[in-house]
Amino acid sequence: MTNFDDQMKKRVTEIRSIIEGYLPEAEGFQRTLLDALDYSMLVGGKKLRPLLMQQTYAMFGGTSGAIRPFMAAIEMIHTHSLIHDDLPALDNDEYRRGKKTTHVVYGEAMAILAGDALLNLAYETAAKAFSEDPGNPDVARAFEILTRKTGAYGMLGGQSVDVEYVGKPLTDEQLYFIYSMKTGALIEASMMVGAALAGASAQELEQVEAAARCIGMAFQIQDDILDVTGNQEDLGKPVNSDEKNQKTTWVSVHGLEQAREDVERYSREAVRLLRELPYENEFLDELILNLIHRTV
Ligand code: IPE
Ligand code: IPE
Ligand code: MG
Ligand code: MG
Ligand code: MG
Repeated sequence: MTNFDDQMKKRVTEIRSIIEGYLPEAEGFQRTLLDALDYSMLVGGKKLRPLLMQQTYAMFGGTSGAIRPFMAAIEMIHTHSLIHDDLPALDNDEYRRGKKTTHVVYGEAMAILAGDALLNLAYETAAKAFSEDPGNPDVARAFEILTRKTGAYGMLGGQSVDVEYVGKPLTDEQLYFIYSMKTGALIEASMMVGAALAGASAQELEQVEAAARCIGMAFQIQDDILDVTGNQEDLGKPVNSDEKNQKTTWVSVHGLEQAREDVERYSREAVRLLRELPYENEFLDELILNLIHRTV
């Protein structure tokens, strides 16, 4: 195992335990809801967004424990987006993170509620950062970014256009909009929250946003590639979901070869943008470049 793989394993294990600390006990009359919420959060998942957040925070010299509730919160928002993305009304998929999807196990009504509850819990959790670091105005800046990038001008805006255009052709501009919003926005939120909480200037935040948008584009294009070339066992989710749902994707428009080139181009551009900043994080650069060839 390389040094990078070792560090990756250690960090993801640490992130899992941070997240676990913010999850509720499944008890009380609403036990089934809480159980569904734990089911979706506890097993599997790469934990990429909290990792990007933590590494960006470290790059900008952040050291406070206030980053921890934000790391748990971004993973809750992401998992909420997956529970709802898999619902019959959206992508209608039956596997996620190597297990049956939440709606298959708990029923559609409970999965809708679990997704909603997780989104709400994300903000309850992020709000704990205010008491971790009382009086620090950067906590409010980070909180604002997290809420904005999730909503109609962020992830949910992208998902809405994604479902609206099923079976219809898309212009390059529309496709870029969908990807930069449905996937890019939460990656932008991850890195911008890390930077903002560590005191980054407005100009630095813009640079981080541009880099994160490139990572988001690369990440979603690679997701489309894996939907065609991967296998369910490794991915933990079905392949050919996009074809089944008549989605217009980067691969269906540009072909596999061009899509692979674009993943590499966007990833290298992200690293280039980060390197223009007067800070350094070698692990973060390596993480971004490693994602070019990810198979899960
Ligand atoms: C899946 O995200 C949804 C996309 C934005 C493509 P991930 O591939 O990060 O999913 P997990 O968290 O590892 O399951
Ligand atoms: C993911 O798009 C976007 C969000 C969940 C916000 P996909 O629909 O391609 O994601 P997967 O392939 O189901 O993970
Ligand atoms: Mg989808
Ligand atoms: Mg999907
Ligand atoms: Mg996909």
